[in-house]
Amino acid sequence: MHPVIDALLTRRSVTAKDMIAPGPNRDQLDVILKAGHRVPDHGKIGPWRFVVFEGDARARFGDALAKIFASKNTDASEKLLAFEADRFNRAPCVVAVIAAPIEHKVPEWEQVLSAGAACMNMLHAAHAQGFVAQWLTEWYAYDADVDALLGLQANERVAGYIYVGSAAQAPSERERPALEDRVSYFE
Ligand SMILES: Cc1cc2nc3c(=O)[nH]c(=O)nc-3n(C[C@H](O)[C@H](O)[C@H](O)COP(=O)(O)O)c2cc1C
Repeated sequence: MHPVIDALLTRRSVTAKDMIAPGPNRDQLDVILKAGHRVPDHGKIGPWRFVVFEGDARARFGDALAKIFASKNTDASEKLLAFEADRFNRAPCVVAVIAAPIEHKVPEWEQVLSAGAACMNMLHAAHAQGFVAQWLTEWYAYDADVDALLGLQANERVAGYIYVGSAAQAPSERERPALEDRVSYFE
């Protein structure tokens, strides 16, 4: 089988909590970012951007996340707040993919789909280089204060946080919807 097809048909997510080091080095991360940047894009708008979290930046962002979480969940236990602070430390590298659609004759829907394609390409570029990855949103993709922390503009939204790392063990396959239930041939 062609290696690209093989990769497409074998990739699967590994949950962030099961990731270990190493993560991608700068060259490998560059490949992941380039793949994310090379997606179909109606109107050549480039309606996405990426924010990378590596090293200590993960804990700094986590501390800020925990503070925001605490301000909205005043009964949160110390244990839960510690978990929030440690979220980005689950993986060696996290890339926030920001959808940045603009006013344009190309519908916003298509621009957001393009940002989603960037997320998917990154998962594949991670997999092709021997890493594992997971596309997560969790609560902090939907929080105005976290958006402000990331410096999001009014037109921007988090499309996903792409966690990238290595896997202690290969993931088992998951149950998937039957393909034949999702395909029909127009007659
Ligand atoms: C936009 C989007 C957001 C997601 N957010 C979450 C999430 O917050 N938490 C979660 O457990 N899985 C989330 N997932 C699911 C995982 O990324 C992944 O699809 C799942 O673990 C199985 O993936 P696989 O089919 O790639 O193996 C999300 C998926 C997408 C497409």
